Amino acid sequence: MQLSDKQKRVMKRLATGEDFFTLLEGSIRSGKSYSALLSFIIYTQAKHPTKNHIIAGRNLTVMKAELLNEIEKFVLGLGGTCKYTQQSGILTVNSTKYLVIAGHDEQSYKRVQSLTAHSALIDEVALVPENFLEQVIARLTYKDSIIVATCNPEGTSHWLKKNWIDKGKINARERFFLDDNPVLSDEVKERYNATFTGVFHQRNIKGEWAQAQGLIYRDFATITDNIKEHHIKFRDIGGDYGIKGTTAFVTLAYLHDGRCMVENVGGNFAPDDGVKTDEELADLLIDYIGNTRKIERLYIDPSASSLIATLRQKRLPLRVVAADNSVLSGISLIMNNTKAKRLLLGKKDLSALRDELGSYQWDKTEKDKPVKKDDHYSDALRYAYYTRNKRLGKGQFAIPTGL
Ligand SMILES: Nc1ncnc2c1ncn2[C@@H]1O[C@H](COP(=O)(O)OP(=O)(O)O)[C@@H](O)[C@H]1O
Ligand SMILES: [Mg+2]
Repeated sequence: MQLSDKQKRVMKRLATGEDFFTLLEGSIRSGKSYSALLSFIIYTQAKHPTKNHIIAGRNLTVMKAELLNEIEKFVLGLGGTCKYTQQSGILTVNSTKYLVIAGHDEQSYKRVQSLTAHSALIDEVALVPENFLEQVIARLTYKDSIIVATCNPEGTSHWLKKNWIDKGKINARERFFLDDNPVLSDEVKERYNATFTGVFHQRNIKGEWAQAQGLIYRDFATITDNIKEHHIKFRDIGGDYGIKGTTAFVTLAYLHDGRCMVENVGGNFAPDDGVKTDEELADLLIDYIGNTRKIERLYIDPSASSLIATLRQKRLPLRVVAADNSVLSGISLIMNNTKAKRLLLGKKDLSALRDELGSYQWDKTEKDKPVKKDDHYSDALRYAYYTRNKRLGKGQFAIPTGL
C-alpha cells in the first residue's frame, strides 16, 4: 500500500489511541477520509475487536459508495472478512460490529441516543448537525475511546470552528493538502486548482476556514468578439418569477467554441403593477422570447409549480425545466466559469443584470448566503447556467477553442 508521509504520520499517531478527538481537515480529495477510515479500522481491530463502534457521515448513499467500499477492499486485501447488512445498518469486520449511521438532519441524533460504542469515525463532520456530534461523543464512555473525524473547511462562523476548534476541544488537528494524496496525478491536481476561485479556492484547495464576504461575482468580463447568429449553437432562458414585483429573464447563448454568453435580459420592471396571474406571467415570457431562435430550454424558479404547469400547456417551442436551486453550488460554478472566461457578458444592454452584479453580495450575518435583495437577474442566471452545467462543475467544462 502506497501512503504519503502525512498519511503515514497521521495513521501511526491514530493507532496509538493517545488523542481522544482527532480532526483531519483540509483540501478536497487530499486523502483525509482514506487515512481516517484505515486508521480507524486498524485501531479498533487491533485494540478493541470485541466492542461496538460507530461509523457516521452525512449521507448513507455517499458513505456506502465511498467509505464502506474502501473498508471492504482494505479488509479483504488483508485476508479478513467484511459484511454490511443494510437492514440493521451494521458492518461486521471479522467479528467486530460497526454501527453505520447517517447524521443528515437535526433529528438524526436520536438514532445514536441509546447506543453504546467504544470509538467513532465521523466522515465530513462539518456537514452533520452539532447535536449529532455531541450525541456520538456522549456514547463513547470508555477511558480509551477515540473519535476520528474529517471535514472540508467551511466559513469561520461554522459551529465546528467556533465551538470546537477555537475552544480547543479537538485534541489533534491535521491539515491535508492535494499533495498529501499519493494517487492524484499532477494533471488532476492542476484541474482541481483551476476549478475553484475566491472563497471556494481558499476552502477547497488551500484548506483554510474562510468566510464568504463582499461582492459575489467579481470576475464577470464582457466578450470582445463580435458574436453573430452563426456562432451561436443554442440558447437557454432562465426565469425568476415574482407574482408581485420583478420577474426577470436572462438569455444565455452557448457558442460553438464552448463559451457561454449572457445575451439578453428582460422582464417586468413594475413592482407596483399588482399581482400577476400565471397566464399574465406566461404572456410576459412569450413577449420576451419574441422571435428569438434556437431556444432549447427555459429553466425556471422551481417553487413556481403552477406556473410551470401553465407554461407546459402552452406548447412553446422549448422545454420548461424546474431549475436546481442549490444556491452555493450554483454560485461556485458561476464564479469559477466567469474567472475562466467561459461565462461572459454580451455587448447588448444588460444594465438590469449589471446593476445587480455590482451589489450582489454575501450576507455578513448568515452563513454562506447571499443578501436576499436585488437578486432576480442573478437568480435567473444561476437557474439556467447551473442546472444546465452542474455535471460539468468538477472542472470538466469544455475548453474554448476560439470561434
Ligand atoms: N494512500 C492512498 N492509496 C490509494 N488511494 C488513495 C490513497 N489516499 C487517497 N486515496 C484515494 O484518493 C481519493 C480521494 O481521497 P479521500 O480520502 O476520499 O479524500 P478526501 O476525504 O480528502 O476528500 C479516494 O478515491 C481515495 O481512495
Ligand atoms: Mg472525504
